[in-house]
Amino acid sequence: MPLALMIYAFLIDWRLGLLSIGRLPLYAAAMAVSMRGMGEKTVEMDQKLGVVSARMVEFVTGITVVKAFGRVGRAHRAYQNAAEDFQSFYYEWVKPLITVSSLGNSLLALPLILLVNVGGGAWLVSQGWVTAADVLATSLIALLIPYGLEVLMNSMWAQQMAGASARRLTNLLETPVLADPEESAEPEGHDVVFDRVSYSYGEGAGLALDDVSFTLQEGTVTALIGPSGSGKSTIATLLARFDDPLSGQVRLGGASIDRMRELYSHVGFVLQDPQLPAISIRDNIALGRPDATEEQIRDAARAARVLDEIEALPNGLDTVYGADTGLSGGQAQRIAIARAILVDAPVLILDEATALTDPESQHQIQQALSEMARGKTVLLIAHRPEVIKGVDQIILVENGRLVASGTHEELLHHRGYARLWESTTATIERGAGA
Ligand SMILES: Nc1ncnc2c1ncn2[C@@H]1O[C@H](COP(=O)(O)OP(=O)(O)OP(=O)(O)O)[C@@H](O)[C@H]1O
Ligand SMILES: [Mg+2]
Repeated sequence: MPLALMIYAFLIDWRLGLLSIGRLPLYAAAMAVSMRGMGEKTVEMDQKLGVVSARMVEFVTGITVVKAFGRVGRAHRAYQNAAEDFQSFYYEWVKPLITVSSLGNSLLALPLILLVNVGGGAWLVSQGWVTAADVLATSLIALLIPYGLEVLMNSMWAQQMAGASARRLTNLLETPVLADPEESAEPEGHDVVFDRVSYSYGEGAGLALDDVSFTLQEGTVTALIGPSGSGKSTIATLLARFDDPLSGQVRLGGASIDRMRELYSHVGFVLQDPQLPAISIRDNIALGRPDATEEQIRDAARAARVLDEIEALPNGLDTVYGADTGLSGGQAQRIAIARAILVDAPVLILDEATALTDPESQHQIQQALSEMARGKTVLLIAHRPEVIKGVDQIILVENGRLVASGTHEELLHHRGYARLWESTTATIERGAGA
């Protein structure tokens, strides 16, 4: 539209045409100055806005905790810092440009246009070169052109924003994917071997596991113990192949687990943080074995001591987690246990599987788990001394390193183990005394 109007203005009269668009090169120059480096700046702005939103979400989701501890000021600060950071970035960027772009915009201001076109046109009419009707037409054109330009500028801005968002999306999509196994290796037996495994949660995060090697003999129970943050859950998740190790190899029955397409029919797990997707309780239990019958699902739930509670829910097994109901941490964990019981895989990982339940049901679940664990290769992360004492092998990790392994009797000579053992039993005795 602006282009057609300009041509038409010149067709009417070249002098009137010049009056109508004479300001535009100046305007274009001002805009060119203010658009310099726009691409990178928009990306930076978009990213900083992302941080502001993330801090805001963090603040809002944590609000109960914040409230309970009266830390409103402090929790608020992360958000405030992000907002201030964005504000100063934006101000630094925009401040020098404001003068230029407002000068540019004033070139398109209505009074100026009228002054130039009507004033200049009146003079041309007085010279007898153009008619009043010509001046009227070209003045209208001069008024319309800025409107068209504004639409163009807005679309350009929108395109910049979209480009920045697209860049973030592609960055996300380019996250490396765990390689799918090309062949499907079948394990021979169910020994688990960690062979010099190191792992890090990301660049700059340091090693969460440092050169860890051990073997879980088929059909034995191994307890993994160590202080909080020592890397126990990391070992468990690597065996479940939530990620590949940085170096080293995890093998099951002689084959590397990253070559097994059917890994989850061999490895079952109950993890520390029981994640239930928002689907029915039935589907949650049958997640690893979608073809399970009603009876099998109920048996698994019964063995995990959660069937009664499920039946008390509004729709029983068909209750949708998240939509129809929430669950306590212990209930969620028992559903995860039922899921593992149903899959009945030959290798079983139990990461503090009963930590969130009361002692009474803990005892019952422990029994159910022992029944299920019979003849299986089990990796157990637990803190209860009577559980640890009875296992075939104990592995002690500290700071991501394996520091000792052996049976309870063998390890009592190990200083780190003896210390850990004493403090655990002492805590339990103190608790019992109280
Ligand atoms: N998702 C994660 N991102 C970054 N670092 C992590 C993540 N999960 C764990 N870590 C780090 O890896 C180390 C080992 O953590 P891990 O969860 O394996 O400890 P743990 O022995 O299971 O502890 P706990 O007994 O408290 O469960 C810790 O230093 C922890 O901070
Ligand atoms: Mg853990």
